[in-house]
Amino acid sequence: MAAERKVFWSVPDIGADEKKAVLETLETGWLGMGPKTKQFEKDLSAYTGAKHSIVVNNGTSALLTALMTLGVKPGDEILIPTYTFVATASSAIALGAVPVLVDCDPATFNVGPKEIEAALAKHPHVKGLIFVDVAGLPADIDAIRAVAARHRLWLLEDAAEAFAGVYRKTKIGNFDHLTIFSFHIAKQVTTVEGGAIQTNRDDVVERLRLVRSHGEGKEKYVHVELGLNFRPTDLQSAIGIAQLAKADHYIALRDRIARRYMDRLSSHLTFQAVPDYATRPTWMILMVLAKDRTERDRLNTHLNSHGVDTRIPWPPIHRQPYFTARFPPVACPVADATFDRALSLPIGNALTMDDADYVIDTVRAFYGMKG
Ligand SMILES: Cc1ncc(COP(=O)(O)O)c(C=O)c1O
Repeated sequence: MAAERKVFWSVPDIGADEKKAVLETLETGWLGMGPKTKQFEKDLSAYTGAKHSIVVNNGTSALLTALMTLGVKPGDEILIPTYTFVATASSAIALGAVPVLVDCDPATFNVGPKEIEAALAKHPHVKGLIFVDVAGLPADIDAIRAVAARHRLWLLEDAAEAFAGVYRKTKIGNFDHLTIFSFHIAKQVTTVEGGAIQTNRDDVVERLRLVRSHGEGKEKYVHVELGLNFRPTDLQSAIGIAQLAKADHYIALRDRIARRYMDRLSSHLTFQAVPDYATRPTWMILMVLAKDRTERDRLNTHLNSHGVDTRIPWPPIHRQPYFTARFPPVACPVADATFDRALSLPIGNALTMDDADYVIDTVRAFYGMKG
């Protein structure tokens, strides 16, 4: 085994291109939302094929902008996956919506038509559905769209973790429903903090732009919609333009690392299943399942004590203290079992193969595997 080293959970690739972009933008004298943001929006649309891109200051703002645009009102029941990062649910709750939590699939950790139909059978008054591409794995979008159409639900895809992902032959974002992305520092493309909304729908675009910026119409200080300040700065957008040019390179690198982990560790760890429809998973988070919670905790301690930084991914929403303080208990046994066994291993835009091999060797040593 190689000498001990420190391997970070996620290493962003911020270098000469991004520094140059920021310095050039500083010199233009226009730092707030302006021409760089317009350019970033154009580039995002060119990349995914989506007709409209609206850049905002983070992924949570993207969720809020989308939900406000969709007209979510206090008391509206919304289907939300329980196995996700907190913002998927908290953005809806902040607007007064009532979350109806949906359990996940045990193999993909995403929600699918089966889980959604089961939740709808118990909650016939639901108005809309947020689904998530967990850890960067595209969910079964066609199947989910069909269920939403059958039940006349609005649809919002939380692809905060899945920028550059491909579902069948279509890039995530290039759909008629609203899709949001996050460009937080650990993401495949980063603006340090940032986000975007994409859609092919024409009828929501003006409203999305109004909600992003205080609902201010054509006349200064005249606010025609209820909006807030979700604007990005041009410094962020300049970084985004530089990062987006390398998106395919980053995904290829993440894919190589993920495949190496799978090749060497699948006999002891279970990886997130990649169905055929998920043509290009983006591996924002490299999630594995140990046999049970005890083994996961022991493996985690072993990795940390050998310099490998890890994360135990999010407790499901139905187990979060802020949720249990407000809403009645919900049974989501698959998400519970997933949470008990899950661990996320280092991956990132600047993780080297040597570092990945060190992580692999450290896991193999834990299981007493040779070589
Ligand atoms: C599924 C999901 N939704 C929303 C967000 C919120 O994005 P941000 O951190 O950019 O606000 C995240 C964060 O990474 C996320 O993982």
